[in-house]
Amino acid sequence: MIILGIETSCDETSAAVLEQTKNGIQILSNIVASSAPLQAKYGGIIPEQAAREQIKAIIPVIQESLQVSGYSGQDLDAIAVTEGPGLIGSLLVGVETAKVLSLVWKKPLIPVNHLIGHFYANWIGENIPTFPCIGLLVSGGHTDLVIFRGRGKYEYLGGTRDDAAGECFDKCARLLGLPYPGGPEISKLAEKGQDVYKLPRPMIDSRDFDFSFSGLKTAAANLLKENSEMSKPNLAASIEKAIVDVLVAKTVTAAQKHNVNQIIVAGGVAANQKLVDRLQVAVDSLQLKTKLHIPPANLCTDNAAMIAAAAFFQKPIKNPLILQADPNLSLASLDYQASKL
Ligand code: KG4
Ligand code: ZN
Repeated sequence: MIILGIETSCDETSAAVLEQTKNGIQILSNIVASSAPLQAKYGGIIPEQAAREQIKAIIPVIQESLQVSGYSGQDLDAIAVTEGPGLIGSLLVGVETAKVLSLVWKKPLIPVNHLIGHFYANWIGENIPTFPCIGLLVSGGHTDLVIFRGRGKYEYLGGTRDDAAGECFDKCARLLGLPYPGGPEISKLAEKGQDVYKLPRPMIDSRDFDFSFSGLKTAAANLLKENSEMSKPNLAASIEKAIVDVLVAKTVTAAQKHNVNQIIVAGGVAANQKLVDRLQVAVDSLQLKTKLHIPPANLCTDNAAMIAAAAFFQKPIKNPLILQADPNLSLASLDYQASKL
């Protein structure tokens, strides 16, 4: 079975061709064009500009993904597209293009929730997760913990009450004068510094699985205001450590509390090597033999391979014309639970 995936939820335009054989799901092509360097000039994403860049990139990116895969549109078994959440202007480009291709090539259309797609990057290749598993999603707009009890059966455990982990990285980077996206920049700077500044670990001891990162950003801003001469590499290291501490503590507690020995991590912040290393150490120390699944960094940040991967486990919609981009889809939405994944 061969699926073309299309992802345009934010500032990346991506198309990928994936094949499912008896050896699992393999990537044949995964093309990503990003307008992030353009957005970086303005310190963040301007939605109108991101949408315009999507329009310019979508056809060449789809063409390239097919060419690299060696297949044509006629060879596909289905087309998968991100339906939401994301920026409405960006989402519309992918959704409307996918609808047209589905009608012209007469291929079934499979809408995919971008957040579910992130988790499904873990189902590409070998050594895939088994159920039940705890899922941590850490992206620019989301920080969520869920428990997957089986396909189509997941429960939302908690999520951020304000800023997402990636948003916290991005906002702190801006304070430090670093470009967008801030996560990789803070990480790079942190390598030259040490965790010496005292910063809060918001909600680390709360008895739920909610998160809050806006206070951490404010604390970092206050430290900088008090002492503008402070070591920026040390502040970067302290910010990174504080975010990672909270994510590791809550994820491991969720696995212990629910007696689950598989953890899957997804989203752009999962590309953070400190988070990967610290989670591995924490998981190794658990009594229950626990397996940690984190995709390679290029499959953590936005890409269409993860969207196609999720689509292998979903049904197409009956009428492609009725598909609407939905910028507000979430994991907490219970409507989503039974019908998809
Ligand atoms: O999943 P993603 O590519 O897009 C969204 O769906 O939001 O995540 C983007 C977020 C940004 O906030 C970016 O700063 C963060 O992921 N990020 C990182 C790293 N790479 C990307 N954060 C920390 N360390 C990284 N290496
Ligand atoms: Zn994403």
